Amino acid sequence: MTQTIGALLIALFSMTVGLSHANETTRESTGGAQTMQDIMARQAGQQIDDSFRRDATGNPDAAKQITEQLGVLGGVSDSEVFRGIRYSDLDIKVSNSGPAADILVQDGGMRWLELRQGPLAIYGGGALLGIIGLLVFFYFARGRIMIDGGPAGTTIERFKAVERFGHWVLASSFVLLGLTGLLTLLGRQLLIPVIGHEAFSTLAIGSKWIHNNVAWAFMLGLFMTFFMWVWHNIPNKLDLVWFAKGGGIFGKEHPPAKKFNAGQKIIFWTVMVLGFSVSLSGISLLFPFEYPMFAKTFAIMNSVFGSSFPTELLPHEEMQYAQIWHAIVAFVMMVAIIAHIYIGSVGMEGAFDAMGNGQVDLEWARQHHSLWVAEEEAKGKIPAGSSLSAHHGK
Ligand code: HEM
Repeated sequence: MTQTIGALLIALFSMTVGLSHANETTRESTGGAQTMQDIMARQAGQQIDDSFRRDATGNPDAAKQITEQLGVLGGVSDSEVFRGIRYSDLDIKVSNSGPAADILVQDGGMRWLELRQGPLAIYGGGALLGIIGLLVFFYFARGRIMIDGGPAGTTIERFKAVERFGHWVLASSFVLLGLTGLLTLLGRQLLIPVIGHEAFSTLAIGSKWIHNNVAWAFMLGLFMTFFMWVWHNIPNKLDLVWFAKGGGIFGKEHPPAKKFNAGQKIIFWTVMVLGFSVSLSGISLLFPFEYPMFAKTFAIMNSVFGSSFPTELLPHEEMQYAQIWHAIVAFVMMVAIIAHIYIGSVGMEGAFDAMGNGQVDLEWARQHHSLWVAEEEAKGKIPAGSSLSAHHGK
């Protein structure tokens, strides 16, 4: 019995010594592999300098001389070969000639997957719910923005047929892209538990087809509306007055505006700049590995801002950045567009007609775009006998 207890104590003692010894491993003692400190640091989520293994992919100088007897692997070991594959440091030959076929291991994929399923889905989805909640609150707090004194009854042309066509091509494609994009990003997590794998598979395949093809209509709509409206969206001093007065959203006062007010200019530029960016990253995703854009963009950013983004990216990493960026930009656009849809429909009396039949009530136009109405008046485009004073009997 005492012998057994003694043996146990010795075993325990040697384990503790062994452990404390293990905690202090040096690079030499691991033969150049990870030390206990590296492992502990990684487990604590700290960044470690992994050059000791990233660069240890076989060193011809350290190899045995050809005159000496080589082991079964020649001058390199299994681990060196594996590291060479992992850090894409080997001259790999493959029979498949695809653009990224010789990348056998790409460990950034896990980070990308976690980011996509975690923060991207949570914050992106949260932002959409947030803006919807805010608009519901705004609707109950402020109510529908009405035409003061009611409509004039006479109308004025606000958008020509071609402008409305451009707008609806842009809008309908965006809505389809938004819905199918969300389905692709969140479907696996949200829908599979509800409708099952079979049904989701059909939905996902259809959704991908719609997304890939409707993207071109979006680009067409973007192109059309840009050229038709850019002139009216150049910022000017009037926009500052509009902002100073809070856009007239909270009070009764209507700050003066030309064809587009400062709020609309924000929507316009958000749609144009982000729409262009989402299209570029989308093209990069549509033609995998053909149009890598991020390494070059990062290099430009580094030289302009002095940042230190990676400028050498594997083909898969390029795609991963493109996907994450595409989704972030799309979420920002969706938040802005949900607010735009609200104000262009239920949020404001008389607004929808502008894009519906192109004719807006003259009183609406005077209240929201007084200077534009004055311009149209000067061009002789306002029907006779429909001035503001006539309507209000002043
Ligand atoms: C689907 C529902 C939508 C509705 C009901 C809607 C409604 C409207 C209306 C009424 C206007 C004219 C505002 C005025 O007379 O001053 C307008 C303008 C505009 N729309 Fe939409 N829209 C929708 C979706 C979209 C989408 C998805 C986009 C872009 C992706 C978009 C981009 C624009 C732009 C850039 C303008 C000009 C600037 C502005 O008025 O804010 N719209 N929209």
